Amino acid sequence: MWHGRFSEPTADEVKAFTESISYDWRLYRFDIMGSIAHATMLAEIKILTLEERDQIIKGLREIEQEIQSGKFVFKPELEDIHMNIESALTERIGPAGGKLHTARSRNDQVALDTRLYTRHEIRQIQEAIRELQRSLVAFARRYEKVIMPGYTHMQRAQPTLFAHHMLAYVEMLQRDHGRLEDAFKRVNVMPLGSSAIAGSTIPLNRELVATLLDFPAITHNSMDAVSDRDYLIEVMSALALVGVHLSRLCEDVILWASSEFKFIVISDSYTTGSSLMPQKKNPDIAELTRGKTGRLFGNLVSLLTTMKGLPMTYNRDMQEDKEAFFDSVETAKSSLLIMAKMMSHIVLTEPRIKISVNDASLLATDMADYLVKKGVPFRTAHEVIGKMVGHCVQEHKALTDLTLEKMREFSTAFEKDITSVLSLEASITSRTSTGAPSYVNVARELERWDKHLTDPKYPVRK
Ligand code: ARG
Repeated sequence: MWHGRFSEPTADEVKAFTESISYDWRLYRFDIMGSIAHATMLAEIKILTLEERDQIIKGLREIEQEIQSGKFVFKPELEDIHMNIESALTERIGPAGGKLHTARSRNDQVALDTRLYTRHEIRQIQEAIRELQRSLVAFARRYEKVIMPGYTHMQRAQPTLFAHHMLAYVEMLQRDHGRLEDAFKRVNVMPLGSSAIAGSTIPLNRELVATLLDFPAITHNSMDAVSDRDYLIEVMSALALVGVHLSRLCEDVILWASSEFKFIVISDSYTTGSSLMPQKKNPDIAELTRGKTGRLFGNLVSLLTTMKGLPMTYNRDMQEDKEAFFDSVETAKSSLLIMAKMMSHIVLTEPRIKISVNDASLLATDMADYLVKKGVPFRTAHEVIGKMVGHCVQEHKALTDLTLEKMREFSTAFEKDITSVLSLEASITSRTSTGAPSYVNVARELERWDKHLTDPKYPVRK
């Protein structure tokens, strides 16, 4: 493409080192989409005749078909997807193909292609997030009334509902969805026409290209437009957080599937065995998803590092954005989708959960709250119950084993109605403040999520 200035051909090892076609072929649809819009605009401003425009569009569509059906032969010596397509077009249609690159550089072309690709993939990933959210809500619904111990510091803390625990992940994923939506706005800006660095002397109609490609806005600084990769970093950062959330969910799944917990059983079809130990049934999907989070972080840090020292404007370093970005997209998408499937292949071992939740110390805070309602200052109540717990530990008793008489030795504020507090069901029922896991609250939340996840127009919150 640049033989005019060169008298020696590119060395083979240089071709091998600089090529990106082995991975940026993924941009082909978007490259062709962008070229069709560019050609349409060039005809509009009379740089191309209508015949040339039509020849170009027809040629590009044929190439697209060939790539789609796997017939197209990519040439590494043509470096990247942009030159592979342009060269195939010229081979096919002759001189008109040579006019397509008018007022365009690969610098603004690649920026356009990656923005189109990112726009498309954001929507795919958002749908994968929805899939997992739906699966979690369905899982929560299957066990809507199951009470389980809630943990802090991995120590039993207070009773909660299993459904509430699952909905916590639905909330996290909702923020991920929102972050991608926010990033989408900044991805959705049209850079073509910035050309190599300083726009063009040809009077381009950039607004027309934007309209054809359904961009609501265009870039306003040609130098920034060809050197900006913020939009990729933002999305990768949102995906790194998706990874954090998936990894935490996986950690719960792995822990609950352990012999020590046995809270859940994952179906055979969603676990794997050991080549050596016949008894093993391992939660590999959850482990791999937790492990792949490392890639999502690594890819983000990789591109941040690539960009940090770059002078204006385009530098070839920026070609390194793609492998990392493609990998983050694929990793996040496949992890979300497999997790959605796996969650629907888990059953709770309710008797085991019952044993764990049948720990009266989970009600200690409820008892302190009881004293508060009787007028005892919370700090005093905390101390009273603390002493009772200490007493029970020494006597190998449960808090619920204490008689009213015994309780009154610790505080005279205890009355007959304390019995109404001393049950898990009562504890759950009375957790009615907004965001707390009473049966009524959780049922309402499930309802809201169901509606929102069926029709996103229905807001989760009023
Ligand atoms: N393959 C290149 C990339 O991904 C396209 C832009 C190349 N531009 C250039 N001036 N060499 O960054």
